[in-house]
Amino acid sequence: MHKDPRTFIEANTAVETPPLIPEIRLHLATEIVPIWQATEADLAHLGIPPPYWAFAWAGGQAVARYILDNPDIVADKRVLDFASGCGLVAIAAAKSGAASVTACDIDPFAATAIDINATLNATTVTATQDDLIGQDGPWDVILAGDICYEQPLSDRVTRWLRGLSRDGRTVLLGDPGRTYLPKDGLDWVVRYAVKTTRELEDTDVRNAVVWKFSKD
Ligand SMILES: C[S@@+](CC[C@H](N)C(=O)[O-])C[C@H]1O[C@@H](n2cnc3c(N)ncnc32)[C@H](O)[C@@H]1O
Repeated sequence: MHKDPRTFIEANTAVETPPLIPEIRLHLATEIVPIWQATEADLAHLGIPPPYWAFAWAGGQAVARYILDNPDIVADKRVLDFASGCGLVAIAAAKSGAASVTACDIDPFAATAIDINATLNATTVTATQDDLIGQDGPWDVILAGDICYEQPLSDRVTRWLRGLSRDGRTVLLGDPGRTYLPKDGLDWVVRYAVKTTRELEDTDVRNAVVWKFSKD
């Protein structure tokens, strides 16, 4: 493990706003500080997992935009942002009046990035590294951005989120057409065109859809 995630994050990112969310500032990788292009071997040598937390992924931007434009979904609610990465969705929920916001990500660098970014936006978010898949908790609303990029993760998360939705929670998922998005049990909510970077995606714009897990 790299000795100090905070020092690494601050040295390898710049403060920017994601294209769809001009009201939230985040420590992000940029063309000037392109850490995604460091090879996995270079990062592994430093004890650093792939820096997903250094980007506001298209799925997360879609959920954040939808929450900021429809704050009643989270206002006075207890919110979980699952697989939070840089913390964008959690920060959007906090800015929209959530009673409490927990952001979980198993990557310790993400947990530190969430802390740094929440403070930068004058919001209160509790970051945890616990793997919450399969667990129940005091959440009224569960939000998740861009989690369907690997089959085992997508399958486990889908089973868990479907259960929480059937139990009466509001569960929203932002997804830009990833391969392992579940084929059924989701209701279409809204779509946004999200400007992306060729560093990460094979196109300059991705259509990201916010889906709601159905109750049946
Ligand atoms: C593509 S990124 C999306 C980040 C953020 N939601 C966004 O849209 O910008 C996927 C994230 O899932 C996290 N992740 C993977 N498995 C996880 C698990 N079991 N629990 C929590 N987070 C997990 C990764 O560490 C990574 O930060």
